[in-house]
Amino acid sequence: MPIFVGFTLLLLAVACQASPYYPLQIGYYHDKCPQAEAIAKAVIEKAICKNPGNGAAVIRMLFHDCFVEGCDASVLLDPTPFSPTPEKLSAPNNPSLRGFELIDAIKDALEAACPGVVSCADIIAFAARDASYFLSGGKVYFDMPAGRLDGTFSNASEPIKFLVPPTSNLSALVDSFVVKGMSVEDLVILSGAHTIGRSLCSSFFPDRLAVPSDIDAGFAALLRSQCPANPTDSDDPTVVQDVVTPNELDNQYYKNVLSRTVLFTSDAALMTSPETAKMVVDNANIPGWWEERYKTAMVKMASIEVKTGQQGQIRRNCRAINHY
Ligand code: HEM
Ligand SMILES: *[C@@H]1O[C@H](CO)[C@@H](O)[C@H](O)[C@H]1NC(C)=O
Ligand SMILES: *[C@@H]1O[C@H](CO)[C@@H](O)[C@H](O)[C@H]1NC(C)=O
Repeated sequence: MPIFVGFTLLLLAVACQASPYYPLQIGYYHDKCPQAEAIAKAVIEKAICKNPGNGAAVIRMLFHDCFVEGCDASVLLDPTPFSPTPEKLSAPNNPSLRGFELIDAIKDALEAACPGVVSCADIIAFAARDASYFLSGGKVYFDMPAGRLDGTFSNASEPIKFLVPPTSNLSALVDSFVVKGMSVEDLVILSGAHTIGRSLCSSFFPDRLAVPSDIDAGFAALLRSQCPANPTDSDDPTVVQDVVTPNELDNQYYKNVLSRTVLFTSDAALMTSPETAKMVVDNANIPGWWEERYKTAMVKMASIEVKTGQQGQIRRNCRAINHY
């Protein structure tokens, strides 16, 4: 092969893999479905105006999708006779994970515009990005690379392996991030998402209020007024995670960690090492510090074990795999 042909081929090969997010790409749908990201964003904006909880829902959904079988929308699959216990029925997801109807609504809008083109996994990632934008009043604005395919396997035995409970200590939290290629700093930064949304009383009461804990006394009294002393499946109200700015994606979470007004042992645990405690202080005190890092960490989380080529498909219905 003449040397210049070889060189040209080499350049092409480099150009084709030039996305720093390889195998994902910013603007992936630019030619395939030019309006895709705008359509998704419009649906999310409406849903968040109606109920900001929709934004919290999809931000948490990205975490629960990506940490289990990679970012492949396996968390969306409904039970079938052949797969009676999918991820969504497992304890970390059921009954607390929400937002499935919002993903359906985005998918419907995208199927109407460009049938069979936009994956459900990309929809979750776009939704989490757009929710971050709207709930931060435009401060958390970033590109989300795309090109994920949807998986075909989902089982309730997986989430309990990879999503550690809110009773976890720091080393268990760090380990759960490190096995997914995420760092200690990513853990601290992404825990900041607990600045929005809600929690069932059962998710923190036994661990933080029924036994002695370091939770602030005034905050504990407030929570006791909102929760039954013994939350059960039939009596399990929700409380907001951030009592100061419940619907704003901001750095208030870190101030709450410092004032011991956070719900979970896993939140308080960030103060149990000098390294993570310093990160909490910096995120609480330096304007813009958290927002910048959150953008990067979300994109990183959204690239965990993504599927391409023969590893996946583009579902027509986000709740069911395609059968050809
Ligand atoms: C580090 C380990 C984490 C643990 C142990 C944890 C645990 C929890 C728990 C127990 C809830 C309350 C569920 C309920 O009872 O309704 C919750 C809510 C939430 N989590 Fe996490 N979480 C973690 C990390 C993350 C990450 C990485 C994100 C996203 C970047 C996230 C985003 C959220 C959001 C937005 C909510 C509110 C959901 C809603 O309002 O529906 N969490 N988390
Ligand atoms: C699926 O999950 C169920 C319930 O958690 C478990 O009993 C079963 O072994 C799992 N099946 C596969 C194929 O992993
Ligand atoms: C942290 O939790 C893990 C798992 O629950 C446990 O094995 C370990 O001993 C705990 N570590 C510390 C330092 O308490």
